[in-house]
This record gives sequence, structure tokens and C-alpha cells, in this order.
Amino acid sequence: GRRLVIAVDGPAAAGKGTLARALAGCLGLPYLDTGLLYRVVGRRMLDAGLDPSADASGEAATLRAEDLARGDLRTPEVDRAASRVAGQPAVRAALLQFQRSFGAAHGAVLDGRDIGTVIFPDAAVKLFISASHRARAERRWLQLNAHRSPADGEREAEIAAVEAELVARDAADSGREVAPLRAADDAVRIDTDRLDADAVLAEALRIVRARV
Ligand code: C5P
Repeated sequence: GRRLVIAVDGPAAAGKGTLARALAGCLGLPYLDTGLLYRVVGRRMLDAGLDPSADASGEAATLRAEDLARGDLRTPEVDRAASRVAGQPAVRAALLQFQRSFGAAHGAVLDGRDIGTVIFPDAAVKLFISASHRARAERRWLQLNAHRSPADGEREAEIAAVEAELVARDAADSGREVAPLRAADDAVRIDTDRLDADAVLAEALRIVRARV
């Protein structure tokens, strides 16, 4: 039969990655974090001393699967560079085939911004994951600072700074002309503010089982 493709879209730090990885594990499907593709391209631009707003299509065209295992892809500098290269139509076009081939091979769970709208408009299940700015900033701060316990005031200031970065990246990702972040018309929304990871997974599995 047809390969099962599940699209998981939403803004940064809403819980997409945690959900998509767990869902893939439960369903025995491969998992692709598509944000990593844009991160690799942004990282390579920085490594080459190039402005990430300059034409990055050459870096996108030569991306290899091994690059996704690089360890230096989750810094604030790469967050911004990824968002810059992601606004370039030629970069998105170069990465489209990689994503389609990945999903077509054995089925997959893919998470990103445009999986349900552009990459797999016929995905069997589309989930759109959202959460408040505050909840997303707290989670991202915890990921980056699991090893520290700063004073309350310092912690608050850092969370506020993370929140400002997330809001700026949302605005860039939602406002761009090519493949802006938005929910597909047939996506099912899950708001993760009041749900822990297990509850989000249970809800997603319920939605998947009702559809496939
Ligand atoms: O999901 P993540 O935060 O790793 O994505 C990094 C950046 O890559 C996003 O801010 C966005 O600009 C871009 N991206 C995208 N389309 C995707 C996945 C990520 O434009 N499918």
C-alpha cells in the first residue's frame, strides 16, 4: 500500500521535535527533523564566512545526509542563519527533493514548517503543534540550561531574551513569501501549553488511529 507520511508542523520550541520523534518510534517509521536541513545550510554559510542572506542554493544543492549529524547546529547564531537561508526560494527548491525522497522510501514522520502545506500536501495525517510564547521560551531555556541554576532574576531575564528571539523568528518564518509557516487547512491542531510530552503523544496517536 501507500507509504504512511505524517506531517508535524508548528513554530520553534512548541514541542514538534519531541512529539515527532516519539510518534515515529511508536509507529515504527523513520523520522526526519527538516529544520536540520536549513541549519546545515546556514552553518555552512557561516563556516564559509558568507552572509546567510546571500545566495545559499549551492550549499543546499550539495547537502548530504551525513551533514545532519553535525554537532554544532543548535546555537543561536545558527538559529538566525537557518531562518535567513530558509527564506530563499532556491534553497527550499533544492531541499524539497531530499525531503520527498526520504518520506517516499518507507513512509516517515517529518517535522518542520511547511511539511503539510508544501512538501507532503497529501500526507495521511497533518498535525499543527502550538504553544504560548512563554511556554515555548521556558522549554527552550531549559533545554539550553539544564546544567545551570541561576538566581530567579537572572533566569527571568534569560527567558525573556529567549522569548524575544522566538517571536522574531516566528515573524520571519510566518511573514516570508515562500512557504510561510501556517497550518494546512486539513491539519489537526494540538496546543501543548497544558500537556506534558506523554499527553501530547497520546493525543497524536488518537488522531493518527482515527485517520489511518
Ligand atoms: O525547526 P528548527 O527551529 O530547527 O528550524 C530552523 C529554521 O529552519 C526555522 O526557523 C525556519 O526558518 C526553517 N525551517 C523551514 N522549514 C522547515 C523547517 C525549518 O523554513 N520545514
